[in-house]
Amino acid sequence: MARAAKQSFICQNCATTSPRWVGKCPGCEEWNSLVEETDAGPPPGSGMTPKGRKGAVVRLEALTGNTEEAPRLATGLTELDRVTGGGIVPGSAILIGGEPGIGKSTLLLQLAASLARTGQSALYFSGEEATAQVRLRAERLGLTDAPVALASETNLANILATAADGDRPDLIIIDSIQTLWSDALEAAPGTVSQMRAATQGLIRFAKQAGSALILVGHVTKEGQIAGPKVIEHMVDTVLYFEGDRGNPFRLLRAIKNRFGATDEIGVFEMADEGLKEVANPSELFLGDRDGEAPGAAVFAGIEGTRPVLVEIQALVAPSGLGTPRRAVVGWDSSRLSMILAVLDARCGVSFAAHDVYLNVAGGLKIVEPAADLAAAAALLSSFSGAPLPKEHVYFGEVSLSGAVRAASHMATRLREAEKLGFETAVLPAAGDIKKKAASIKLDRVKHLKQLADTLAPCQ
Ligand code: TYD
Ligand code: MG
Repeated sequence: MARAAKQSFICQNCATTSPRWVGKCPGCEEWNSLVEETDAGPPPGSGMTPKGRKGAVVRLEALTGNTEEAPRLATGLTELDRVTGGGIVPGSAILIGGEPGIGKSTLLLQLAASLARTGQSALYFSGEEATAQVRLRAERLGLTDAPVALASETNLANILATAADGDRPDLIIIDSIQTLWSDALEAAPGTVSQMRAATQGLIRFAKQAGSALILVGHVTKEGQIAGPKVIEHMVDTVLYFEGDRGNPFRLLRAIKNRFGATDEIGVFEMADEGLKEVANPSELFLGDRDGEAPGAAVFAGIEGTRPVLVEIQALVAPSGLGTPRRAVVGWDSSRLSMILAVLDARCGVSFAAHDVYLNVAGGLKIVEPAADLAAAAALLSSFSGAPLPKEHVYFGEVSLSGAVRAASHMATRLREAEKLGFETAVLPAAGDIKKKAASIKLDRVKHLKQLADTLAPCQ
């Protein structure tokens, strides 16, 4: 007997269900996020047993045993392989989020073409663009020779039938998950139930057929993938494609990965002929550096396993405001407040009458605490008006006492700095450097005051 369809209101933000409409979601306290949806019982494949049927006993196994490494589909895009942990795993599902216009469709078309050229079959379902538009893009990118199978389709059943027709596809791309709809549900495309049902159906197909599945997801104003977290929980890997529209650099970052680490980034550059991979990000981020201006310090950072040198720029200007401005791009603003407080309390350099702006060049977002020392050097340099030596790099975490603490991967950072022609590294006094990083000069500091005394001696 079919279950009667049940009306309920589902929060589009957090998927909390309510039997009646309320203005404010009881789950996430978002306003006006509840939408009426018809819930036709547990969706197929959800693992729930229909009423009356007893579950079967499954075989339990030990933790030891022979398990083969998941095979990987090398995509031909090294940066994408790096982020996914060595290639896409067949049968796995990847969700890729990013702002509109950032280059998701471009990246995935290049990926499909790259795989198709190596003899893998790639299906590209576009729900947002007509096939003619995708073809035009392929022409611009010089990919028309690649045997990618293309369709403009949003109906889930049609997509599943097409994918199941003929040989098993190696890769299925859905651009985007928000446009899909299943006629089994009454809700509109883009609602939680539709997205959940579509994702479930596609994942089930991908797992059974052993095809890799890539879903594009839009992001909201807050930068989250639109729709509830349940979609992110359902897939194996969540990637974000980030970057500034006004900047050609694009970063692919793993937020979740069941098949690899999540700290690697892939770096691309958006050019006229599509996305180009950037094998050496440091050269790119330091490309048009003006070493003469005060307030610019080069930070020797680590992204995943890769060293990345990037310029941190500070501007310190006398403020006409009662509460001076603090603005940060690419770094944590509370981290900036902390460094300013430490400079004031421990080093005697006060920024209380100054506006402070801090920017990480190239659109990179730095999360490493080791950037503290470089940020402090940039701030002190702008404050004193004296440029930092052009061939210096900085790294090290600053504690609230002003002590400079050891950073991870010091040798890797030093080698990269040396490779790019830097002569001196200002780094923590603590911490061993195992493999001597060739000939770069080391200026080891114990306390931030040492740096403040040389850079802003007027205080
Ligand atoms: P697109 O892949 O459509 O973004 P998304 O799918 O994330 O919305 O990329 C669109 C932008 O990329 C568009 O503003 C133009 C730019 N672009 C280039 O600069 N060079 C190119 O070769 C292509 C195809 C796009
Ligand atoms: Mg697109």
